[in-house]
Amino acid sequence: MPVITNIEDLKRMHKRRTPKMFYDYAESGSWTEQTFRENTTDFEKIRLRQRVAVDMADRTTKTTMIGQDVAMPVGLAPVGLTGMQCADGEIKAAKAAEKFGVPFTLSTMSICSIEDVAENTEKPFWFQVYTLRDDEFMTRLMARAKDAKCSAIMITLDLQILGQRHKDLKNGLTAPPKFTAKTIADLATKWSWGIEMLQTKRRFFGNIVGHAKEVTDPSSLSTWTADSFDQSLDWARVAELRKMWDGPVILKGILDVEDAKKAVEIGADAIIVSNHGGRQLDGALSSIRMLEQIVDAVGDKIEVHLDSGIRSGQDVLKAMALGAKGTYIGRAFVHGLGAMGEAGVTKALEVIHKELDLTMALCGHRDINTVDRDTLLVPKDFAGDWT
Ligand code: GLV
Repeated sequence: MPVITNIEDLKRMHKRRTPKMFYDYAESGSWTEQTFRENTTDFEKIRLRQRVAVDMADRTTKTTMIGQDVAMPVGLAPVGLTGMQCADGEIKAAKAAEKFGVPFTLSTMSICSIEDVAENTEKPFWFQVYTLRDDEFMTRLMARAKDAKCSAIMITLDLQILGQRHKDLKNGLTAPPKFTAKTIADLATKWSWGIEMLQTKRRFFGNIVGHAKEVTDPSSLSTWTADSFDQSLDWARVAELRKMWDGPVILKGILDVEDAKKAVEIGADAIIVSNHGGRQLDGALSSIRMLEQIVDAVGDKIEVHLDSGIRSGQDVLKAMALGAKGTYIGRAFVHGLGAMGEAGVTKALEVIHKELDLTMALCGHRDINTVDRDTLLVPKDFAGDWT
């Protein structure tokens, strides 16, 4: 068993163990990948204030996200095709999150269905909703999430159409993979992935296949998003969806102050400052750069969370110090899953928790809830002077 000390270690193992098309699906951004890169490099520009001779005994990273207790302010973000990184991946990730005490969010584009995850876990999880044109499907999707006792829904607003990721096109991404000379050659070197995958029946988009109409090729993410997603989604429709769910609603994909204000108007419980991990609008600013101005505008009216770029506990601390009330990891837990299944997701959470806990202490804090802007050194021009 190798010594795993950081998320990079899990990422290397993920790459070795998982077919190229799925590793690449996770580890890429759209077009030039500028936003994907800057999501992480912008975190590096923020520095931490070292404080000393402060009592650091009895520390806690416990807090709440949308009123629910969390062991640390780090949820598992909805990630499409998670069950292709490792057999039954969504179930394994949900179990690891449940044991750790952090929220797991199931993607509409998951391989394991809502029902699969509910049957294999005990605590309520969150469900991420993509808005499809098929109204009947949407009504049933919400009802299925309710029946599965999901305790919140997360509506993604930045993907009515799919940003182009060059690698997915070049790799011919499908779930399950289609057999071509290229995929067979790759799969031959990923036999442990293949053996596990042959032992599960969950190899298709579990929330879609058998539930949605008029999908010409349900194995291709790009085809079925183009076929089925509601490109006319607007704030009026978001307000309707908000009313369809009688529990907490989180809006994901907010990167602009004006949109954050709309989210408040329609009565959302939380927003996620996010650019979809740099997978949608290439050229958008990083989430961490946009965070402070959004918190300043709406942070007293709505809970502001952040995703895109979190790879360490230090990143979590920086986002919390800039006013986020919660963060999410996508790639960081997927690397763990691809590397070692459920144990790998647990490892990813442990790594991030330890980094958060120790860094918080070295900054002179014992409680994540007391971490504030004074904990950081932020370059004066960090947010940028854009017109
Ligand atoms: C789906 O959410 C994706 O980014 O591929």
